[in-house]
Amino acid sequence: MRKTLFLSVSDICRLIEFVGLPQFLGQLTDRIQADFARWQEFEKCPRFASYSAEGVVELMPTSDGSMFSFKFVNGHPKNPLIGLPTVMGFGCLADVATGCPLLISEMTLLTAIRTAATSVVAARSLANKGARSMAMIGNGAQSEFQVLAFFELLGVNRVNLFDTDAEATSKLMANLQGVAGLNLTAHATSRDSIRNSEIVTTSTASKLRASVLVPEMLEDGMHVNAIGGDCPGKTEVHPDVLSRAKVFVEFEAQARIEGEIQQMPPSFPVTELWEVVAGLKPGRLSPSDVTLFDSVGFSIEDFTTLCLVKELADRYHVGSDIELVPDMRNVKDLYGDSVGRFRRESIR
Ligand SMILES: NC(=O)c1ccc[n+]([C@@H]2O[C@H](COP(=O)([O-])OP(=O)(O)OC[C@H]3O[C@@H](n4cnc5c(N)ncnc54)[C@H](O)[C@@H]3O)[C@@H](O)[C@H]2O)c1
Repeated sequence: MRKTLFLSVSDICRLIEFVGLPQFLGQLTDRIQADFARWQEFEKCPRFASYSAEGVVELMPTSDGSMFSFKFVNGHPKNPLIGLPTVMGFGCLADVATGCPLLISEMTLLTAIRTAATSVVAARSLANKGARSMAMIGNGAQSEFQVLAFFELLGVNRVNLFDTDAEATSKLMANLQGVAGLNLTAHATSRDSIRNSEIVTTSTASKLRASVLVPEMLEDGMHVNAIGGDCPGKTEVHPDVLSRAKVFVEFEAQARIEGEIQQMPPSFPVTELWEVVAGLKPGRLSPSDVTLFDSVGFSIEDFTTLCLVKELADRYHVGSDIELVPDMRNVKDLYGDSVGRFRRESIR
């Protein structure tokens, strides 16, 4: 019986150290783009979401017929007040032919990295070529990964920061101060951070209808990367911003429930990003278009990430084998080869 590979947070950090974060982001971005291009090969459904007063716990499954994956993830915006992250996750990759669970991995860190990689896939197709400036609104757990991915993969080197919590912005600046060529500026208001930014990333967390971005802040040609509105009743962008923009989503059926577009009527037009990636639909039509990626996170992004870390972990011999499935001499003798054997051995 083959063992299941387990990748802890330390293992993922070790793997990223071997590969290099910019290279890891680059590989993951290319792989997500490739999997979006073969979108129709995947089984898809809106994620299962268990809502409560303070947050949500979700399961995100998919399969391409060869591998099956799921991610467990939560979203609890008040968690930082009690010393817990807003978002925590872990995932599983299994072989479709046998059902064998091949990998269990941490996915708190991987969710932040894959979200940043997906944001780059969208910006590659939708932002004006040559954009070098970005407002980063919400400077919490996701933010450094967003800033680094846009810097390393798209050359966005002027980043204007804003968070209602000034300490979050200071933390981001301290973490990234040594990155050569990256210019970070903290601002006192979101309006100031957005002024003269070609790209606007919103990554805030509060369980309400916020208006971090209002229509007066928009400028011709902007690309908005809205990642924080991802739950019913939890949005960041004013509905008039959506009316003004060309809106792109991951999976429409899920985005209608959870994304910014939950504020719009069901007939509000959107394009799924994969259609642009696959060359079936246009993205930006003119340099003056305002484009908006209404990201909520989708299972295929996690599938791609789990496949990549499994490959890299095998190559670099990172992680440990865990006994997730009983190791049986006779696979029909579950009792005898598990509790029975344990009992016999403990009597001896
Ligand atoms: N789309 C996706 O795939 C995806 C993936 C992961 C997380 N998310 C979402 O992204 C958001 C950020 O996640 P995180 O892990 O960084 O959370 P976090 O709690 O670590 O950080 C959120 C930050 O937003 C700030 N904030 C709250 N309201 C604000 C406002 N009005 N203006 C400016 N700043 C404000 C908070 O002070 C905090 O620093 C969450 O809503 C999360 O659910 C989306």
